[in-house]
Amino acid sequence: MKKYGIPNILQEMSENNIFKQVFHVTRELRSKKLNQKPVLIWFTGLSGSGKTTISNFLEKLLFDKGYSTFSLDGDNIRNGLSKDLTFSEKDRYENIRRIAEVSKLFLDSGIIVLASFISPLKNQRDLVKTIVGEKNFIEVFIKTPIEVCEKRDVKGLYKKARNGEIKNFTGISSKYELPLESSFEIDTSKLSVQESVNFLYEKIINEINE
Ligand code: ADX
Repeated sequence: MKKYGIPNILQEMSENNIFKQVFHVTRELRSKKLNQKPVLIWFTGLSGSGKTTISNFLEKLLFDKGYSTFSLDGDNIRNGLSKDLTFSEKDRYENIRRIAEVSKLFLDSGIIVLASFISPLKNQRDLVKTIVGEKNFIEVFIKTPIEVCEKRDVKGLYKKARNGEIKNFTGISSKYELPLESSFEIDTSKLSVQESVNFLYEKIINEINE
């Protein structure tokens, strides 16, 4: 049987007596094996703007082309990992911090991550960028106007928010800070889903083939 040396895993101690463990199988090795550069494609925008729809079809396209991908989505995460969180500013920040850390683990595993979260404030989106690293982060602002999102009201939440049945509803009773420096912007009231997906695919394909 092949003998392995004791790995030098206790690399550095951070606060609280926690050590960073370093593993032999690195992000680079996993990425090489999967033949792709893992990136986080972060969709931000109002509820009903089309984040999940576009992300879902983009993932399908990437998957069909042979890339290894995973999707993280606000509604799903809030039924599990972030079940204990509300929509207060503090809890949204914590929600986004958790997602960013989860995304980073996926990136370490070599996977391309597509994440759809309202992430209404700049400091939340900046936090994601800091956690995963700017070079791995692609921000896509789905800038569908609120009038269009409200008119669609796919989940009936705008109506409830207008009636005062939902507190802190983004765009109605809680603010959304417009992203000024997104990598890409898409207005789904102007582009079809197919056009939006094709546009993004063309833009990111070189990035993930690097
Ligand atoms: S975020 O602000 O913390 O990024 P997240 O993307 O996880 O939000 O969750 C948004 C989803 O939660 C919406 O698509 C909607 O279905 C649901 N939701 C429930 N309450 C609210 C609210 N007060 N504001 C916005 N979305 C809400």
